[in-house]
Amino acid sequence: MLKYLLFTSALALVTVCQEKNPNIVVILTDDQDVVLGGMNPMKNVKRFIGNEGTTFTNSFVTSPICCPSRASFLTGLHVHNHMTWNNSINGGCYGQNWKKLETRTFATSLYNAGYNTFYAGKYLNQYGVPNAGGPEQVPPGWSEWHGLVGNSVYYNYTLSNNGVPTYSTELYLTDIIRDLSINFIENQTESRPFLMVLAPPAPHQPFTPAPRHQGVFNNVTAIKHPNFNIAVNDKHWLLRMPPSPLPAEMIPELDKVYRSRWESLLAVDEMVADVVEALDSNSLLSNTYLIFTSDNGYHIGQFSQVYDKRQPYETDIRVPLIIRGPKVQKNTKNDQPILNIDLAPTIMELAGLLPPQSMDGRPIRFDAQNEEFERNMLVEYYGEGRDGTVDPLCPWSYDSENLAECYPEYDCKCQDSRNNTFACVRHIARRINKKFCRFADSENFTEMYDINNDPYELTNTIDQELPAVKHWYQLLLAQMLTCKGYRNCDNPLENPKVLG
Ligand SMILES: *[C@@H]1O[C@H](CO)[C@@H](O)[C@H](O)[C@H]1NC(C)=O
Ligand SMILES: *[C@@H]1O[C@H](CO)[C@@H](O)[C@H](O)[C@H]1NC(C)=O
Ligand SMILES: *[C@@H]1O[C@H](CO)[C@@H](O)[C@H](O)[C@H]1NC(C)=O
Ligand SMILES: *[C@@H]1O[C@H](CO)[C@@H](O)[C@H](O)[C@H]1NC(C)=O
Ligand SMILES: *[C@@H]1O[C@H](CO)[C@@H](O)[C@H](O)[C@H]1NC(C)=O
Ligand SMILES: *[C@@H]1O[C@H](CO)[C@@H](O)[C@H](O)[C@H]1NC(C)=O
Repeated sequence: MLKYLLFTSALALVTVCQEKNPNIVVILTDDQDVVLGGMNPMKNVKRFIGNEGTTFTNSFVTSPICCPSRASFLTGLHVHNHMTWNNSINGGCYGQNWKKLETRTFATSLYNAGYNTFYAGKYLNQYGVPNAGGPEQVPPGWSEWHGLVGNSVYYNYTLSNNGVPTYSTELYLTDIIRDLSINFIENQTESRPFLMVLAPPAPHQPFTPAPRHQGVFNNVTAIKHPNFNIAVNDKHWLLRMPPSPLPAEMIPELDKVYRSRWESLLAVDEMVADVVEALDSNSLLSNTYLIFTSDNGYHIGQFSQVYDKRQPYETDIRVPLIIRGPKVQKNTKNDQPILNIDLAPTIMELAGLLPPQSMDGRPIRFDAQNEEFERNMLVEYYGEGRDGTVDPLCPWSYDSENLAECYPEYDCKCQDSRNNTFACVRHIARRINKKFCRFADSENFTEMYDINNDPYELTNTIDQELPAVKHWYQLLLAQMLTCKGYRNCDNPLENPKVLG
């Protein structure tokens, strides 16, 4: 008995003396690019997270599409390991396999370690739909759950409030996420740390701004980098599809999409300011990490495409990543190469937990600055074919099973095809900034870019590369496509001498 008393009081002492675990707040936007000025409207994010923290300038996603990318974010796994291949249930998006994996996310780890956990907004695209278990199902790991049923929308949606479906017609979803978040923060006490994920719909299609932000960017037009609306002949099949370039009368439509995206982001920017203020006025801010990022990038008009993601180019695979918190340097830029699978192990480490070796990502090193780094990062995408999205009026509608999103209003320019299936190595080191991509199409089409010399990916250099270099990337890619776990997935092959 005495022994027991001694033991418990020692334990209490340890608990009291221990530094309290930090709170972690993640803001995950939907389809926000960083290459086309997608961070431009985010004044509060820059002021309250960027100036008070570190902006990571080489941040990528494992897959440029919502559901696979979100599955990577939650599990720290590459697409070939979580097997959420696309946005459909039969492609693994909230399917049976996911329900097993869902018991091993960073959220379940933090929850089991005593964190209060909160999720509000879009989760995996098929969450809550009838065939995926309905909105009564609350994913494990969340003590307070406000998951959006289905894909991003701004009005007329169902939120699962801790398993109780609640339909709303007129309340702007981003504002609801803000209100729920502030309520949650106001209810937190000093005794327990908390984790929050805020996942607003912006700037996803249909790009609906809050009424108070409509027209704010009336005079803004889409950014026109040198790769805007140019005809291509050295890229894969889908990009060579006509029309290329797009007809001039389509450009105002792209401008409209561009400015609507910015306007829809303003409510997110306000939400961030309000959340920071709530943390501050409840004396929680100094012990809280804030992580701002997106599930994938976006293109608008590049290489004569319309607007979407799903491509291997920088517009689509690069995402914003800004982090503030006790151990993070203030007002700093950091160019270490990061993948979204790094966030799960990073969050676990910040919470004082050991990330499992089965995770493919590795924790971000907040103290690393201008030291030698090198990383080969895997990006995977599995192209979709979707009958119902190919208009019968389009000339290639006879092949609609293998194509997706081809509409007459965009001159039948398709956004996806089954053979738009690719894997890339994104290679970054001090003097190397390359991309090697291979398509699973009838041509085994290969693209290579030297981003340092050609940031807009105007020239596919594959025919100018030394055979040994091509061979090395090919081997590396094959190895990475079957890798499992951080030790195995990170830089699995030595650089050949020819790369320098
Ligand atoms: C939401 O639903 C209502 C009622 O069905 C409809 O009038 C309104 O146009 C819808 N709003 C949007 C943005 O779809
Ligand atoms: C705090 O939590 C209690 C109990 O769950 C709830 O009744 C109350 O409304 C919450 N307060 C706020 C400000 O959210
Ligand atoms: C757009 O409008 C804003 C506010 O009215 C103004 O400050 C800005 O100079 C305008 N920009 C252009 C390019 O006209
Ligand atoms: C999603 O992936 C599954 C499994 O690979 C496939 O059967 C399905 O056709 C894909 N969905 C679309 C829309 O391409
Ligand atoms: C890609 O798929 C489309 C649609 O089935 C087909 O027409 C085209 O020939 C394919 N291209 C390549 C390079 O595989
Ligand atoms: C594509 O690669 C496969 C092996 O990966 C090979 O069998 C096939 O012949 C190649 N096709 C072309 C057109 O090069």
